[in-house]
Amino acid sequence: MKSLRILVVLLALAAPPIVGLLFTYEIIKVDWVSFMENQPSYRPMEDPLPLPKGAVPVDGPVYVPGVPWPNPVPADEVSLARGETLYNIYCAVCHGPQGKGDGVMKAYLKTSPPPDLTSPAVASRDDVSIFNMMTFGGGTMPNFRDLTVRERWDIVNYVRKLQKDAGVEIGPKAPAQPPAAEQPATGETGEVTVEVVAPLFQKGGCGSCHVIEGIEGAMGTLGPDLCVTGEAVQKGEKTMEDVIQDIVDPNAVVAEGYSPVMPTNFGDLYSQEELELMARYMATLTCKE
Ligand code: HEC
Ligand code: HEC
Repeated sequence: MKSLRILVVLLALAAPPIVGLLFTYEIIKVDWVSFMENQPSYRPMEDPLPLPKGAVPVDGPVYVPGVPWPNPVPADEVSLARGETLYNIYCAVCHGPQGKGDGVMKAYLKTSPPPDLTSPAVASRDDVSIFNMMTFGGGTMPNFRDLTVRERWDIVNYVRKLQKDAGVEIGPKAPAQPPAAEQPATGETGEVTVEVVAPLFQKGGCGSCHVIEGIEGAMGTLGPDLCVTGEAVQKGEKTMEDVIQDIVDPNAVVAEGYSPVMPTNFGDLYSQEELELMARYMATLTCKE
């Protein structure tokens, strides 16, 4: 009788750990409530959150040769002061305190000495190419991707100041263009010529997001190849007014599969006449196989 009682007590004591082990080794499986699922993040196959109106990429500019990407940071006192500090920390060792290419590292970089940043050749580059030299590096120059986008623009502004102080002419030489009023808007046949529309597309940086056939450097992929717009017009699915609408109010209809990232201020940038010229050019485009 006594031994039976001891056995019962032992069994009673052993039961909870045994039950625990059954779960541990998954002999008994219970689907747990998965708390990971109860979270606000988006899972694959779900729509991403819509971008806020007017949002643009923040990782820095997409550089397409010939397509200007404006420096978003004004060269004010704050920016220049920050740029000076950063330049003296990161760049002066090679390029020298005044940008003359005479930093202390020069002695060790015999085969590829740091260039004089105040030379006319470097001064003639646009801001974004200086920015991207920091983003990607090149030759023996390391990249400075660890600097924030804002910091890199601050340095660009300061490098510009060094160049200005050295008295060199800054920025790419604008291609000689007759003033808009004197430009023949259309060719003999009433066709819109590339010469007329290319500067217009360039003014809006359209080519950094769109492929536009015939326009040099227009190879962007954030937006659709604009041949689709041309074909829509040719098939009668879109009128010229619709195309102009696509430019001035791009978020009214967002093309499927794309984010609403197209700038919304083109209505202010272009005159009605300029919009019509671009629309007429796009209407001639066809998508190649
Ligand atoms: C280790 C030395 C070194 C440091 C540090 C350095 N550079 Fe350079 N930089 C070079 C060299 C070398 C080249 C030439 C690269 C080549 O061979 O193409 C160069 C090229 C450049 C160019 C391109 C000039 C041209 O011909 O268009 C720019 C702009 C530039 N550097 C800016 C900067 C800035 C701004 C910084 C600081 C954030 C910096 N560099 C830091 C060594 C350096
Ligand atoms: C920052 C990138 C960006 C820039 C710059 C940009 N676009 Fe777009 N564009 C887009 C995206 C993304 C779409 C597709 C989503 C939408 O319809 O808003 C689009 C759509 C369009 C469409 C409609 C295409 C269709 O038929 O579905 C037209 C037309 C167009 N853009 C023309 C232009 C022109 C002209 C410019 C320059 C004045 C320009 N875009 C500048 C990103 C851009």
